[in-house]
Amino acid sequence: MLLFKRNSDLNEYIAKKRAEGIKIGFVPTMGALHAGHISLIKLCRRDAGLTVCSIFVNPTQFNDPSDYEKYPNTLPTDVDLLAEAGCDVLFLPTITEIYPEGAGASKSPIPLDGLDQQLEGASRPGHFQGVAQVVKRLLDLVKPDVLILGQKDFQQVLIIKKMIRHFQIPVEIIQGAIIREPNGLAMSSRNVRLSRDARERAGLIYHALKQIQGRLGTINNSQLLSEAESYLTKELPDAQVDYLIVADAETLQPLTDRDNRPAVLLIAVWLEGVRLLDNIVLMS
Ligand code: PAF
Repeated sequence: MLLFKRNSDLNEYIAKKRAEGIKIGFVPTMGALHAGHISLIKLCRRDAGLTVCSIFVNPTQFNDPSDYEKYPNTLPTDVDLLAEAGCDVLFLPTITEIYPEGAGASKSPIPLDGLDQQLEGASRPGHFQGVAQVVKRLLDLVKPDVLILGQKDFQQVLIIKKMIRHFQIPVEIIQGAIIREPNGLAMSSRNVRLSRDARERAGLIYHALKQIQGRLGTINNSQLLSEAESYLTKELPDAQVDYLIVADAETLQPLTDRDNRPAVLLIAVWLEGVRLLDNIVLMS
């Protein structure tokens, strides 16, 4: 696996590969890699001739500075995992390579049709502008043919698709399934911040989603969701449910009843100061 820290070196190498007719696949990450990320690398390798992964902990998407400071850094292990998974290129840019004018320099907001204000965006102001800006910058640098994103961050995938449509960036998106721990907890880099006990109990979040999925259509959504929330509050008394919603899979507007539109069940829970996200796509 090759490692590049400078845009110019990355560009030169990728341009050479593209000229050879090789399809470029890209997996952007913030490191602290786990089996979920590795599944995206494998998906990329199946589709593209050259797999590029970036590790960049993007400061502009953290509305809480302590979350940024506490973001796990496991670079030596990440490098081993990527090499083992068959990643071809690791891009490890510095902040100045990504933000030559400084990470705090003001930028015109990317129009995201209000999608960035809902759910995750409501609790984390500015988060999705930060995500959209950094992914735009990374796409400009890597210029991949295919971009691989994980379904766990469902709202993030919608935001990135919107940004890509807005700038008419010619890239195909492939979405990788959520990878789960044995108890059902969706894999996330933040899971390591949970105590062993909480991490075990957090499997109940997925259990609650599966229960809702199984009962959809039998009673109205709001009753179903409030029963599931009561179940979680009883079984995980130290957790706070930020949102639990059945939403339109494109607009993320709440759906009160089962209908034939593509829908998604989304949840965000705080446990031991860690924000845990999960979702189930109900129909696509
Ligand atoms: O999902 C992530 O790891 C990040 O939000 C991303 C897409 C790499 C942008 O920083």
